[in-house]
Amino acid sequence: MSSQPGYDALAELYAETFPSPFTNTLQRHAFGAFVDHIRDSGVRGAVVDVGCGPGLLTAELAARGFEVVGVDPSSEMLRIARSKHPGLRFICVDATLDAPELGGVTVAALLARFSLIHVPPDSVPEILAGWSERMAAGSTVLVAGQTSADDEIVEFDHRVAPAWRWHTNRMSAALADAGFAEEWRTLHGADADHRFPEFHLFARRR
Ligand SMILES: C[S@@+](CC[C@H](N)C(=O)[O-])C[C@H]1O[C@@H](n2cnc3c(N)ncnc32)[C@H](O)[C@@H]1O
Repeated sequence: MSSQPGYDALAELYAETFPSPFTNTLQRHAFGAFVDHIRDSGVRGAVVDVGCGPGLLTAELAARGFEVVGVDPSSEMLRIARSKHPGLRFICVDATLDAPELGGVTVAALLARFSLIHVPPDSVPEILAGWSERMAAGSTVLVAGQTSADDEIVEFDHRVAPAWRWHTNRMSAALADAGFAEEWRTLHGADADHRFPEFHLFARRR
């Protein structure tokens, strides 16, 4: 069983603070483009929402007709996700996807929004390699996180759990090493509600 004590403690507050999955317009459009790419890819299987939290994006994907699985290491986040979206499938596991319940799931696409930021950077290459192994050529990935300057990966004072900001080039290179080719990225500047610039990075399994 995975655990995420920081998010367990603040799960209710998190769900109340973020009633919408989108905190700016670009996030909505990046997600919309991802949805179109999944459809266009023609790859069959489930869309896995890695670090799904209260499941808002898992539900958005389900509403668009995809088979979905939300995964998160925080049992409290999943308790909220299950109560808000009783028809959907949620599994308690971290980004490794190392859970027996996922054994039979074919992964058509994978969304990791503001969740890989909580994985110690040394562990990320192995996690991406594991995703790649279970995905067919043409399948798609959207990763989002807070970004850093100057090609660095830097730990930052996230309020809930240890977290790292990745320069988008570094995340793109890590994805490429695991077999995913970047197709596009977005960058949203910091503002009153976002302390750091944020990237979305869309890549496809070669
Ligand atoms: C900032 S929330 C993002 C929730 C959702 N993905 C979104 O974009 O609205 C981060 C989530 O990542 C989860 N998380 C933390 N460590 C993780 C890990 N090692 N693997 C996967 N998810 C993790 C947390 O439990 C939390 O639900």
